[in-house]
Formats: sequence, structure tokens, C-alpha cells
Amino acid sequence: MNDIAFLLNGTPVTASGECPTRTLLDWLRETRGLTGTKEGCNEGDCGACTVMVTDETGSRALNACILFLPQLHGRAVRTVEGLTGPKGEIHPVQQSMVEHHGSQCGFCTPGFVVSMAVAHKNGATDHDDQLAGNLCRCTGYAPIIRAAEAAAKAPVPAWVEDEPALSGGHAPFAPATADELADWYAAHPDAVLVAGATDVGLWVTKQLRELPEVAFLHACRDLQKIEKAKDGWRVGAGVTIAALRSATEKSHPAFAELMRRFASEQIRGAATVGGNIANGSPIGDAPPALIAMGALLHLRKGAERREIALEDFFLDYGKQDRARGEFVEAVTMPATAPELACYKLSKRFDQDISAVCGCFNIALDGQKVAAARIAFGGMAGIPKRAAAVEAALTGKAWSLETVEGALPAFTEDFTPMTDMRGSAGYRLESAQNMLLRYYHERSGAAVSVLEVQP
Ligand SMILES: Cc1cc2nc3c(=O)[nH]c(=O)nc-3n(C[C@H](O)[C@H](O)[C@H](O)COP(=O)(O)OP(=O)(O)OC[C@H]3O[C@@H](n4cnc5c(N)ncnc54)[C@H](O)[C@@H]3O)c2cc1C
Ligand code: FES
Ligand code: FES
Repeated sequence: MNDIAFLLNGTPVTASGECPTRTLLDWLRETRGLTGTKEGCNEGDCGACTVMVTDETGSRALNACILFLPQLHGRAVRTVEGLTGPKGEIHPVQQSMVEHHGSQCGFCTPGFVVSMAVAHKNGATDHDDQLAGNLCRCTGYAPIIRAAEAAAKAPVPAWVEDEPALSGGHAPFAPATADELADWYAAHPDAVLVAGATDVGLWVTKQLRELPEVAFLHACRDLQKIEKAKDGWRVGAGVTIAALRSATEKSHPAFAELMRRFASEQIRGAATVGGNIANGSPIGDAPPALIAMGALLHLRKGAERREIALEDFFLDYGKQDRARGEFVEAVTMPATAPELACYKLSKRFDQDISAVCGCFNIALDGQKVAAARIAFGGMAGIPKRAAAVEAALTGKAWSLETVEGALPAFTEDFTPMTDMRGSAGYRLESAQNMLLRYYHERSGAAVSVLEVQP
């Protein structure tokens, strides 16, 4: 395959003759001897492999273990070795880690300091969120957070600030526009599309799968736009969860908060909304919320385009309404969703997949339920609407009695499964409780674990 050129710690490098699914982590450690970037989990969970990746859209912390080399073409990568200056000057976050006793081992610390350096560069001070994707098993987070807080005011070192972008062509297998992608994919319908690689990366690192032909979507800038259309917002398939979260913070606060609970900073910076839909996962977080908002899915094959209601895309476990050579181009969501509430139940607050994710969007006409859209993840083999529950509510008075009366309808809509994330009984009862929670929240009660005080 063609050469992959990028900046590595400020120096132009070329990776030649590499398999397109070679991970940055393996390449750094095995060919460059840059062993500061650690392998902990090799599946995006622990942050030990965090690197800084910069392009014209800014700097992000990403997990090198699930980043394929072609995703870096034209970008700048900074590893922990590159945080120190040309004369060996220590980065302010490193100095702060020393001063605040933020480290006891060399395994998690490199990833922590890279995440901290990215947050520092971006002026991000929500340190708990910024570091939720970095696991530490010994120091404990308090000294690390104190170190991040203390470093926040220090200026960004020049060698980190001025990261020039490389130009010149784009990577092999990486079309530059949706049109190019459409033509190529229609002609290569058995290829695997790689967007953020936060799912596909694991097929390679955990399932040791050899992929057939691959196409990388990250260079299709036209798929990364959020555009205001007359029927709402058209969100390109390549928009990352991080970008979607920040775009929706004011207009769709419940959705933005759900996106904050999506994995970690490193995953949100790579994962795309198109990948979250196209993977057909029954426990993806964006689909139930988007279905509850009445989102439309835009699919494209070659020059042909079609639109379907998002809920109709998910046919059965592992089966979606998507033809060979057809891809997700965008999803349209309403410009606001004032009645939307999203409840994610997972074993851990941060960086965890949902056991149950319930999304409620109920419109009232006076004291009556005018329309209800309720969708769940984790309750069936697909993200699914609660049609019987919706019917049991619609047209009725919006009261605790109505809500309690609708609870038995959950068994008509769902026969959840038992797995390591929860038993069938737990899932069913939790889903019912989420409807009660929605009722109480709409009545003004504080229901979030972040709000309820002992
Ligand atoms: C540590 C970790 C934590 C996670 N936590 C969460 C979580 O909290 N919530 C959650 O919902 N998910 C979570 N995930 C899963 C994953 O991050 C999401 O599903 C993500 O949205 C996938 O997007 P991607 O761009 O990385 O997709 P990729 O991995 O690139 O692709 C996923 C699938 O979609 C296909 N695809 C991608 N884009 C398109 C397109 N435009 N058209 C057609 N097909 C396409 C690919 O071919 C592949 O089959 C987590 C993953 C990891 C590793
Ligand atoms: S090694 Fe754990 S996130 Fe990459
Ligand atoms: S200091 Fe290494 S695991 Fe925390």
C-alpha cells in the first residue's frame, strides 16, 4: 500500500509497506522503540496508550491501540516522549504530577500525562471527564486531579502549541469526499468501512480478524458537518460523538449529557455517530435517543439516496436495512427536543456500555399526553421503540395513575435477556422505573444521581 506520512513528535515520518490495520500502538513500540506508550487492555478501555493527535480541527487524545496507521496520514502525533521540549524541558503537567504525587507506576502515568497535556492545550478544565478514560489502580484520582488543576494556568509549551499540519494527498483507502466514497464503495461492496475504528479496532486487536478491503472515512470532511436544515439538523455520519456532544449542549441538553456518558474522551474523539448507528448494536447509546427524537436516517449507494425512520433501520439482531455498497450518509434530528430525557444505566458511571438506556420524549397538550416516543437500548436485540407503552399513555391524562397503568405494557414490548450487564428481571424493572423517573422529573423532582443529596 501507499506510504503513510505524518508528524511524529514534531518530525515528519513515513510508514511504508504496513498493513492498513496495523495499529499505531504496535508500530510505535515495535518499529520506533517508543515504548512510553503502553499497552494495557488493547481495546480502548484503559488509556495507557493515549497519544495526542492534531489536525486542522484541533488536538485530541486518542487511544493508539485502536487507531490504524492510515487514520494518521497528514496528521501530527505526539507521544509521551514528545511532551518534553527540545532541550529536555519538562511539560507543565508532568511537573505538576511530580509536585502533587500523582504517579506511582509507569504504566498508567504516560497515558494520564498525555490526556492531561491535551486538556491543557485545549483549555479544558472538566478534569473528571477529561481523565475518565484513563484508569489508575494505585495512586487514586485525587492527586492526579489536583495536578491537572494546578497545571491549568501554565502556558502551553511552544513545541506542543505549534504543531504544523502536513499537506499533500490523502491516505490510501481514504476517499476525500462522500461522492468519492459512494463511487468506490458501490464498486467494492464487500469492503469494510472504518470511521473511528472504536468498534472495528477491536475486531483486529481482540478477535484477531483479518479484514478484506478497507476504506477509511476520516478524510471525508463533508461527512463531518452539522448543518441546519428546515426539518432540523442534518448530522453527517462522520461527526464524532465529542463534536455532537458540544454542538447539542445548549439545544438538546439531555442528549448532550447522554453523550458525556458515552465511553471516554479518547473514544468520543474518534467514535462517529454513523458508526454508532451502522454497527447495529442493541446497546449503542445514540440510537435510542435519536429514535425518541424521531430522527431520519439518510442512506446512500452510489448516486442513489433514500431516507428511512431510524427505528426502521434496525431489523433484527445483527441485521440492518442496508444494502451491499450502501452507507450511512447522515441523520436528521430536530433542532431542539425540550421534552427529551435520556437515562443510561451502566455498572460504572463513566466509560461503560449501557445495561439499559431509556429515552423518553412525551409531548403534552395541557394535561393530556398528545404524543409519546419512547425507545430503549439493552432491552431487545435492537434499539427498539416501546410501542405498547406509548399507546398506553397517548390520549390519557398525564398523571402518576396513567404512568403506573402503562407499566405492565413493558412486557408486551420487551423480553429482555440476561447477561453479564443485568438479568432480564432487572432490565425490565429498571426500564419501568425509568418511566416513573421521567414522570417525576417532569414534575420537577431531582432525579439524577448528580442532583440527589443525602
Ligand atoms: C472502550 C469503549 C467504550 C465504548 N463505550 C460506548 C458507549 O458508552 N456507548 C456506545 O454507544 N458505544 C460505545 N462503544 C462502542 C463504539 O465506540 C461506538 O459504537 C462508536 O460509535 C462506533 O463508531 P466508530 O466511528 O468508531 O465506528 P467504526 O468502528 O469505524 O465502525 C463500526 C461499524 O460501522 C460501520 N460504519 C462506520 N461508519 C459507517 C458509515 N458511515 N456507513 C456505513 N457503515 C459504517 C463499520 O464498517 C463497522 O461495521 C465503546 C467502544 C469502546 C472501545
Ligand atoms: S491499551 Fe488500554 S486503551 Fe489502549
Ligand atoms: S499509578 Fe499506575 S496504575 Fe495508577
